[in-house]
Amino acid sequence: MKIIMLGAPGAGKGTQAKKIAEKYRIPHISTGDIFRANIKNGTELGKKAKTYMDQGLLVPDELVCDLVVDRVAQDDCKDGYILDGFPRTIPQAESLDGALAKIGESVDYAINVEVPDENIVNRMGGRRACVGCGATYHLMYAPTKKEGVCDACGAELILRDDDKPETVQKRLGVYHEQTQPLIDYYSRKGILKEVDGTMDMEDVFRAIVGILGA
Ligand code: AP5
Ligand code: MG
Ligand code: ZN
Repeated sequence: MKIIMLGAPGAGKGTQAKKIAEKYRIPHISTGDIFRANIKNGTELGKKAKTYMDQGLLVPDELVCDLVVDRVAQDDCKDGYILDGFPRTIPQAESLDGALAKIGESVDYAINVEVPDENIVNRMGGRRACVGCGATYHLMYAPTKKEGVCDACGAELILRDDDKPETVQKRLGVYHEQTQPLIDYYSRKGILKEVDGTMDMEDVFRAIVGILGA
């Protein structure tokens, strides 16, 4: 099962992708997480990506496409995977489709988690991310057992650099301009599925399981 998560920044792609990956036992591949891990480790890729990410801009397609195409060719992806945050532009979608077509495969589902812009800014301000394992929480909607400490690994929680309100606005603008056209792209391919992302996390997950099948 090959799944793509679409949706604005903060729509809950990462939250749902993690649950889907666990339930269906497929790898969760988040390009944002890959870039953040590279930034943390001080790699060349991380240095390049950071200059774009901090401004709320997309990292150029040429730094993203090969990375994902290589990743999904790895052994653990042979029964499928869930892509979270990729593709984000039409050229990225074409590059993925092209690579899959070469091996006679295609994406099965593009799940669009729909959340209006008004709700997004609120969500992002309350999000906290673990510096150790990358787990995501929310001060109100997904609090940790102990404040400021990751439930999974015990490391410290921070506000992501790009979750400051000005940068969130910028990311939303970039989303509408560059990523939203993918909704039409996958709709034309007949694999688009819409879910209402304003429900609480468990209800959103139930809706997705309803689409993918138990
Ligand atoms: P990325 O990390 O992918 O960020 P994003 O798309 O902006 O999305 P987020 O991770 O911010 O949100 P999410 O939808 O995963 O929401 P979450 O589940 O955390 O990318 C970051 C940057 O990297 C980009 O800006 C770009 O520069 C670069 N990049 C990455 N991929 C790229 C690509 N392919 N091409 C080019 N550049 C790329 O939820 C948000 C919060 O809300 C959390 O606190 C959560 O607990 C809470 N929440 C979730 N669901 C609910 C709910 N139903 N109700 C209440 N609260 C909820
Ligand atoms: Mg995410
Ligand atoms: Zn952690």
